[in-house]
Amino acid sequence: MLDTTLRDGEQTPGVSLSLDEKLEIARQLDALGVDVIEAGSAVTSEGERTAMKAVAEEGLRAEIASYVRARIDDVDLALNCDVDSLHLVVPVSDLHIKSKLRSDRDSVLRSALEVTEYAKDHGLVVELSGEDASRADEGYLTALYRAGIAAGADRLCYCDTVGVLVPEKAVEIFSRLSDLPVPVSVHCHDDFGMATANTVAALRGGASMAHVTVNGIGERGGNTCLEEVVMSLESLYGIKTGIRCSELYAISRLVSRLSGIPVAPNKAIVGENAFTHEAGIHVHGLLADTSTYEPIHPETVGRKRRIVLGKHAGRSSVELALRELGIECSKEELAEILARVKELGDKGKRVTDADLQTIAEIVLSIQKEPKVRLNEFTIVSGNHAIPTASVRITVNGTEMLEAGTGVGPVDAAVNAVRRAISGERDVRLEEYHVDAITGGTNALVEVWVTMAMGDRSITARGAGADIIMASVEAVLEGINRLMQLEEDG
Ligand code: KIV
Ligand code: ZN
Repeated sequence: MLDTTLRDGEQTPGVSLSLDEKLEIARQLDALGVDVIEAGSAVTSEGERTAMKAVAEEGLRAEIASYVRARIDDVDLALNCDVDSLHLVVPVSDLHIKSKLRSDRDSVLRSALEVTEYAKDHGLVVELSGEDASRADEGYLTALYRAGIAAGADRLCYCDTVGVLVPEKAVEIFSRLSDLPVPVSVHCHDDFGMATANTVAALRGGASMAHVTVNGIGERGGNTCLEEVVMSLESLYGIKTGIRCSELYAISRLVSRLSGIPVAPNKAIVGENAFTHEAGIHVHGLLADTSTYEPIHPETVGRKRRIVLGKHAGRSSVELALRELGIECSKEELAEILARVKELGDKGKRVTDADLQTIAEIVLSIQKEPKVRLNEFTIVSGNHAIPTASVRITVNGTEMLEAGTGVGPVDAAVNAVRRAISGERDVRLEEYHVDAITGGTNALVEVWVTMAMGDRSITARGAGADIIMASVEAVLEGINRLMQLEEDG
């Protein structure tokens, strides 16, 4: 697997990763088990080169690659970044050669060979890549590949640059390309939603490696999704990929957070709804056997099942949701909990995990003292001030005073609370969402959070006219619930 989140993924409009962010993603990709990390394009900027050099010097197990064009000066820049290999890209379709490069087939071939030889003389691994290969003349493409191998290319790559490949053609073309004496990679784009299918088909046809990005980020419709290819191969074809699947959700969250590109709720494997079930017949099936409506166990990819409750909730869904929270109850208690859940749902409320826990505790008469209590809270913000919050909170009977800064007052407040708690537990804010319930500047807002601790996560809510207080309330509610779940085992 070659991951190009840090190069093609970063070409997503509006995405620009800092050195620290690139390093953090590279470390997690390495821990995930990808073979090659395309860390960027050395020609882009000084900052890009510094970040790529930092990734190359991190001592990761994965091979670190730079994208380069067929230009000696590009290779020199990549050499200065200390990368192991080059993703050396030349346009191969007449459309690209003539309209984009204003060149011809022979010149493209000559420069590809000259640069391959130069890179090999300088000790680099070379993957010679045909851009827009899926719209190129196959005779020319194969001639370029063969000449590239003779010039020393270690690997080749076939790019479906604008996503026009179809799985049948992918199998057909790769069964021919796999006769070549070096490995051939496949690099697909998702303009028609076919990238995963095309990549898997190419691998089945004989491709040796897939180019992918986390969450499928990339230009236009994006690139092939790492998580989709891995799970399709592992679960549908029984092929071991060498990827630590249980880390897929964590890296998806990381890339979404650092790139600022949200993941669609209905996205396969890593979307919020991928393992979420609404009330009704599905939940009944899930209670009998989770595989009735789940093709894989959520834990396989580092996730948890979530049951969404509201006014349509039935006995089964409440029972399953309670089971997920580790709460047991009698038939009568279940009926009472269900009635209270419906009551909340009738008021138009989405019932969070924390709401369900509170209801269950009241019905089962097992209400517990909160572990964390807010005593005092101050926030300073303004156009010339770094948003800073200080909190005085009691955690397990001990009073703590902590401060935190952030990009805005809400971020600062949440950071202060997390810092106060961090000596106790590693709590993470995974999702944050605000709804204005009423209009105007004095609107009542509702804040929804997903808080996580270890491999457990929980949804909670805070509400009020003050968005910062509502956020702190939601975060504290989530933390309290998580600490309680941990204590209950
Ligand atoms: O999609 C593509 O063709 C590319 C190349 C530049 C390798 O990303
Ligand atoms: Zn691409």
